[in-house]
Formats: sequence, structure tokens, C-alpha cells
Amino acid sequence: MTIECAKQWDPDSVSEVLVLGVPSDWKNSESVRQVDAKTSGWLVRLIEAEELSTKPTKTTVLLSPPGLAARQLVLVGLGDLPLYEPGVAYRAAGAAAKVVASKARKIVTFIGFEGSEMARSSALIGAINGFQGQDLLRKEKSLFQPESIRWIDIQPESLTQAVILADCILEMRRLVNLPPNILDPIAFVNEATTLCKDLPIEIEVWDEPRLRAERCNAMLAVAQGSTKPPRLIMFRYRGNGNGPPVALVGKGVTFDSGGLSIKPTDSMLTMKMDMAGAATVLAIVKAAAQLKLDQPILGIVGMVENMIGGNCMRLGDVLKSRNGKTIEMHNTDAEGRMVLADLLDVAVENKPKSIVDFATLTGACLVALGTDINGIMGNNPAMEAELRKAAETAGELVWPLPMHPFFSEQIVGKVGDLKNMGDGRWGGATIAAKFLEEFVDKTPWVHFDIAGPAFLETAKPWQDLGATGTLVRTTIEWLRNQNT
Ligand code: BES
Ligand code: MN
Ligand code: ZN
Repeated sequence: MTIECAKQWDPDSVSEVLVLGVPSDWKNSESVRQVDAKTSGWLVRLIEAEELSTKPTKTTVLLSPPGLAARQLVLVGLGDLPLYEPGVAYRAAGAAAKVVASKARKIVTFIGFEGSEMARSSALIGAINGFQGQDLLRKEKSLFQPESIRWIDIQPESLTQAVILADCILEMRRLVNLPPNILDPIAFVNEATTLCKDLPIEIEVWDEPRLRAERCNAMLAVAQGSTKPPRLIMFRYRGNGNGPPVALVGKGVTFDSGGLSIKPTDSMLTMKMDMAGAATVLAIVKAAAQLKLDQPILGIVGMVENMIGGNCMRLGDVLKSRNGKTIEMHNTDAEGRMVLADLLDVAVENKPKSIVDFATLTGACLVALGTDINGIMGNNPAMEAELRKAAETAGELVWPLPMHPFFSEQIVGKVGDLKNMGDGRWGGATIAAKFLEEFVDKTPWVHFDIAGPAFLETAKPWQDLGATGTLVRTTIEWLRNQNT
């Protein structure tokens, strides 16, 4: 797909589809006025007759619009302008794109996605995201990227950066959507190596002997039930070389059966998505390198499969994690924190200025916040505030869960230092985060539980079902403001 921008709309340039963003207060929209003028008032008559909704993401397809050099005019609601922000922009443009993508098209023009520069680039990223389906392995696709899109009124520099981010998000979605028989830990290493080729990113891979030598016993315990060997990958992006890196840590469980604490069928079905944290880290490191951000970054992901077998971990097993704390296995389905325990210790050893981890860690986070909001927790309110601000700027949803010290009482082990789950189900997202906190030492740290937003079980108007690419834009926004 080629993407170009133009400062102004040329009403005579032909495109197969013209997409127009229409705010509720459309009377003040210059774009609506321009398109309407070309249709000699036909468009405004339709809007005035309330033939279409201007609510965010509501689309109306008009065939053979009079006066326009386009076969279709797709209108998409932007809602009330005072509420128009990058999140609305992303979803509205995505919804229009998804409608347009029902068929292969040559050229599509987008106009009317205005607002702040961030809102403009979010709209473009949302559109590129909306065109892409998850039917990777199906002969008959359901969504089709157009051959080219033309975007009206965005700075060329914003366009370039938006395309970088969108591409990283699409690559990440592809990896998460790949089935677990295809995307195993080694396949992820190969994909990551290919994706980072020709970029200033150094990749170091720890195989099993190395993981043993490095005492990553908590991570190895999760891997031991699977025939697929585990891998730890470190991504080093040196940025401008000034100061310590930010460490980004990702949970990379390529399939989570639950182990002996086995999941019921319905919950197991989508567990190919349990490596979304690792894919998030890869996407962020790659985008940062392409955007040439100043901040040095150390990405660390742990790739394992959580399975059942004669050699799998048992309930009651006690493991000595990399930092020396012993962990009692009370539930083999609480495997993410086992993997992260060792990854966080590797991060700490590298003396980062801060750590951010991404993990599809708990169903409890879904219960607490629903499917659309990421949980944010940590040990440093100032850093947490920065990331919440970045999420707001980028238009992504995060919400804090408590981290009161008394929760830690529940993860004290019987014979070991820690146990890998609380006394019951209550407060599960916090309990998991308190467990992780045991492994970050004093390093400023933020934990994102992305179990809900990482993966859609059903499609949204603005994107196909499956992986979403959540928090890539937020974290890039935050990283931009580091090391300045
Ligand atoms: N990968 C799951 C969490 C998850 C659930 C992600 C639903 C996405 C959607 C994680 O490994 C898990 O199984 N967590 C357990 C922890 C419990 C055993 C303490 C959970 O949430 O039930
Ligand atoms: Mn699990
Ligand atoms: Zn899991």
C-alpha cells in the first residue's frame, strides 16, 4: 500500500472511494463544506435530514455521489469536536477503513480528520490498522488493503512517523494472531530477527543451556512441560548513547494451556495471544529504532510454551528464581509471573533507569477493568503518572489498580520465600503485580496488565477481531519524552 499526503483536497483528482470525517458540529467543518460544494449542496441536505449519524465510528456509505470524482463517499462520524482526541480519531478512521476494506480498491482518499497533529497521525494509524484483517491463513480474505491511500492535510513528517508506528503495530498483530503450532518460541526468535534486520538493534538470544547457566529456573520450570525449547531475547537499541537504557520486558507464552492446573476449553482457545507482551516489546523497540528516538532501550522477552507432559512442573514444586528467591508452585496457570520473575531480574542486572513490563497476566484484570482498559501498576507514582499521561496523549486506555503493601502477605510461601498465587481469587491482578514487584529491586517500575485489550474475541467497528497492538503508541509517546 502506498501512502501519500496532500495539503489540500483536489476535488478533480479521481479516487475510488472518498472518506470524509463528519463531526456533530459539521457546520464548522471546512472539509464538509468543500465536499458539499462539489456536490452542489446534496451532502448537506442529507446531513440536515439526519440521514446519517455523526456519532464516533458510525459509518454511512453513499454510492455514486453526485459531482464527486469517486464511486463511493464514505462518511464517518467524529462526534463532538470538544471530545475529539487521538483515541476517537483512531477508531473513527479505522471504522471507515474497515468498511472500505470489504473489497480490493485502487485509491482511497481521506479528508476531514483534523485536530491536533497527534489526532491526525492517530487517525492515519487507525485507518492502516482498520484495513488489516486477521485471516492470515485463509484463502478467501475478508478485508483488503487498498493499493494506495491519499491523506489530506497532515504534516509529511507526521505521516512518515505514523506509517512507521502503524507498520510495527501490524507486524505485532500478525505475530500474535499466528497460531501456536506455527509461532513457537524459536519461530518468534526468527521473526524478530527478520523484523529487526537492517536496523540499529542488536539481538542476543539465550538458548536452554544459557538459560540454565543464567539460573533462569522459574522461566525454565514453565518451559519444561513442552517439547518446544524456550528462548530469552534481548534487544539493544542504543539511541543517542546517553545514560542508562529503559528496560522493556514482555511475557512471551506462545501457548498457555494452564499446565496441570489446566484451563477449560473456552479459556484455552485464545491462548496463542499469551505472547502479546513480547510482541509489544518487539514492536516498540523496532518503532523506536526507526523513529531514531534518543532514549536507549533494552528489550527483554521470555518465550516459552506452558504445556503438560511427563516432565512438566507440578503443584508444590519449589524453584529457585534467578535473583535467589524461592517460589512455590501453587498454580501452574500462574506461569506468566514465573517467566517475568527471571526476566525482571535480568533487567535489574543491566542497571536500567526504569523498567516497563507488558503481560497478558491475569483474568482478574479483565474482571476488574473489562476488555478495553489496560491495568497499570507499579512502585513509583511519578513514573506511573508519566505513562498515564502518555496514554492519554496517545488516546489509549489505562487505569490504575492498587498496590497496597498488605497484598504481599498473600504471596508468602509455606516452605519457599514466595508462592505464585494469592489465597483465593480476589484481587488477582494486584497479587500478580505484587509478585512481580519482588523482582524489580528498587528500580522505578511500571507493570501493564494487557490481558483485556491485547486481543479482541469479537471484531470492533474499527478493527478486525484478534490482536490489537495496544500500548505501542503510548509507550513510544512516553519514550519520546525520556532522555531529552
Ligand atoms: N494468560 C493468563 C491470563 C489471561 C486470561 C490472559 C484471560 C488473557 C485472557 C494467565 O497466565 C493466567 O492463566 N492467569 C491466571 C492466574 C491465576 C491462576 C492466579 C488467571 O488469571 O486465572
Ligand atoms: Mn496461565
Ligand atoms: Zn498466561
